[in-house]
Amino acid sequence: MFPCDFAWGAGTAAYQIEGGWQADGKGPSIWDTFCHEKKGRVFGDQNGDVSCNSYELWEKDLECIQQLGLTHYRLSLSWARLLPDGTTRHVNQKGVQYYNKVIDGLLACNVSPMVTLYHFDLPQALQDQGGWKSPGIATLFDSYAKFCFQTFGDRVKLWLTINEPYVCAKLGHEDGIHAPGLKEPGIAAYLAGHNMLRAHAMAWHSYNSTYRATQKGAVSLAINSDWLEPSRAEIMRSAIDAQSKKLGYNGSSRLPSFSKEEPAILGTADFFALNYYTSRKVEPGGGCGKALSMKTDRDAAEVLDPSWPICGVSWLAVVPYGLRKLLKYIKYTCNNPAVYITENGFSQVGPLQIEDVQRSEFYKDTVLEVAKAIQEDGVNVRGYFAWSLLDNFEWADGFSVRFGLFHVDFADANRRRRMYHSGREYAKLISEYKTLS
Ligand code: GAL
Repeated sequence: MFPCDFAWGAGTAAYQIEGGWQADGKGPSIWDTFCHEKKGRVFGDQNGDVSCNSYELWEKDLECIQQLGLTHYRLSLSWARLLPDGTTRHVNQKGVQYYNKVIDGLLACNVSPMVTLYHFDLPQALQDQGGWKSPGIATLFDSYAKFCFQTFGDRVKLWLTINEPYVCAKLGHEDGIHAPGLKEPGIAAYLAGHNMLRAHAMAWHSYNSTYRATQKGAVSLAINSDWLEPSRAEIMRSAIDAQSKKLGYNGSSRLPSFSKEEPAILGTADFFALNYYTSRKVEPGGGCGKALSMKTDRDAAEVLDPSWPICGVSWLAVVPYGLRKLLKYIKYTCNNPAVYITENGFSQVGPLQIEDVQRSEFYKDTVLEVAKAIQEDGVNVRGYFAWSLLDNFEWADGFSVRFGLFHVDFADANRRRRMYHSGREYAKLISEYKTLS
């Protein structure tokens, strides 16, 4: 049912689990600043200073990974841990040692790493120079990427350059609810998104020309997408150009155009990396306001179907069949690419529920939809990564929202990890499907 080399994984991200925010020469990232600088930004004014303390407790994470029987583990590198000021002028060898330990530890247990270069945590030093809004960031990212390919690429074969450019651009630069906390609607998110795509493309081309032949890996970027059922076509370019004109914005569009002189963006994904959590029904409307914003540009309203259960956080309606529809859509619109589902998960809030039956059911139902997508729809799905291995720092929701397959006791100095019922069930699922394949 699943191919025998199917990747059964779980994921995490550096800022969400590592802690050690100042350990061994790490530089500050925008999330360190975002959490420390002002009260009221994160639930309970919490931060990722210690979080799961994976910087010191990595071996415990490895035990969790083994207990689940994963074949793959998705982690991200902290740019500021490796290059404290964001540039290759100064390499933090302790950071290199840490990730070498993680990667070697995984491989020794027969677990393949999937490594994300950027999961929301820009070095603060680069933010101080304009961050993702500044065109020069693409070259700096490319240097960082080349450094990582050079240092870890002998062992890492699956790379993701940037996690969720849309989320990073919108929540960080338009809504201001993620780092760097900018609220510049209708402008900054487009610049940031544009530069993230340029940065990704440069890194892909570097890999392609310099490392691919010897390292034989694959590079993509993780795109988050809900399943949205449109009731009419929406074309981003023409919509933003038209809205810019209508609002008299400087006589030009707020959506930058890619220059022909730069490395091509089309074709810079060796596989499709999909983060899927939820679905929405989409209706026309919402764009009649005068204000500049992504919402008015988009001119579409998203609604929930009342029959969809909400789990933990308000945005997460549980719709496993949406994933199958989205996979099928990707097959037909993107020329049947290899797809890794790089994130998918279920959150809990409130009192501790180790016997999290609902989450177990969620994983069963969702993996079944993936199986149908492979078998009945012929989608080339190569892997599935549950989000997340551990309860962790859920960005603006702090530790109030729990996505883990392992519970982490954040009140305990040793950050004790305890398998949820859903962890046991996910492990069972993996082992059953492995025997069938
Ligand atoms: C994604 C993000 C993850 C995680 C997840 C659950 O957008 O990449 O880091 O927080 O959402 O909300």
